[in-house]
Amino acid sequence: MSTLVTGAAGYLGSYVIDTLLSQDRQVVGLDNLAWGNKEHIDRLADDERFSFANVDVTDTAAVTSVVQEQGVTDIFHLAALHFIPAAVADPSLAVRINVLGTQSMLDAAKSGGVERMAFASTGDVYSPSDDAHHEDLEPAPFNIYGLTKLQGEQLIRNAQRSTDTKFLVARFFNLYGARETNPHIVPEIVDQLKAGSGVLRLGNLEPRRDMVPVHEAGRALVEALGAASEPITTVNIGTGTAHRMGDLVDTLVELAGTGATVETDPDKVRASERMHLQADVSKLRELIGWAPSPDLAAGITALLQAEGMA
Ligand SMILES: NC(=O)c1ccc[n+]([C@@H]2O[C@H](COP(=O)([O-])OP(=O)(O)OC[C@H]3O[C@@H](n4cnc5c(N)ncnc54)[C@H](O)[C@@H]3O)[C@@H](O)[C@H]2O)c1
Repeated sequence: MSTLVTGAAGYLGSYVIDTLLSQDRQVVGLDNLAWGNKEHIDRLADDERFSFANVDVTDTAAVTSVVQEQGVTDIFHLAALHFIPAAVADPSLAVRINVLGTQSMLDAAKSGGVERMAFASTGDVYSPSDDAHHEDLEPAPFNIYGLTKLQGEQLIRNAQRSTDTKFLVARFFNLYGARETNPHIVPEIVDQLKAGSGVLRLGNLEPRRDMVPVHEAGRALVEALGAASEPITTVNIGTGTAHRMGDLVDTLVELAGTGATVETDPDKVRASERMHLQADVSKLRELIGWAPSPDLAAGITALLQAEGMA
């Protein structure tokens, strides 16, 4: 019996794997190393409970073989084209990986008689609003990334009609913390501070985001799949608090103790950006009894320590 994690070389995948190994589970990590960080796999080379499959999730025959040969009972399907500007730049690739890749995992889960499957969706499936998003709201994504994730959710609804597999649709908000793989705002600031720049060149700092400590997001996902009892459980994984990006920058600069001023870099201002993204976490609390911490100062202190900057 083993648990399969797709997107194993990725950011969230590395924390999901840590949580599973802390529960002494057998884990198969799957990734095609298109992005992510191979170090997230290499660090586990000596752990006998972990094995790695270098496979593309859109290759249905190959993922089916992994599921069947490894006796997979649980799947965490995290592999995706996640970085929104990359998805906007290449919508066909986003559809191929995020939509076709998800159907491929559903086919593999069905043929392998998998018991539970979690799918990493996103708060970006919701229509922009200044209010916290509850899972019962009608999704209305406004970019290609959110659209592909909503299509993944719809494929799960379709697959559920003809399988006993139980599904968890986890809508993640903005993850932050050590090991980040994509050039989101937090690693961008850390890199600029590390380079010793007294001037930070950043995009729009007015949007508000629900910033989720990534290690807590990984643990919440594992606990939520264990607790989900409906044929499909859809749940937000967020903190319930939205922070202004400008306040995030101020906190980071203050805690790093380096001092820096901020300039707008027009190249980093996204052409289309939602101004407010915040999770309603009442359903998550009901499901697992807790929600990730909204304490930005504590999360950033942990990140700076991991980066050797505090
Ligand atoms: N990071 C966030 O803030 C956030 C927020 C909402 C949702 N999510 C979702 O959580 C999941 C994990 O995100 P992340 O931040 O770890 O992203 P990531 O980019 O670090 O990881 C994605 C991984 O998927 C792999 N991958 C891509 N295409 C593949 C393919 N065809 N076959 C096999 N592997 C492939 C990449 O190599 C990478 O290692 C994604 O589905 C993402 O959309 C993340």
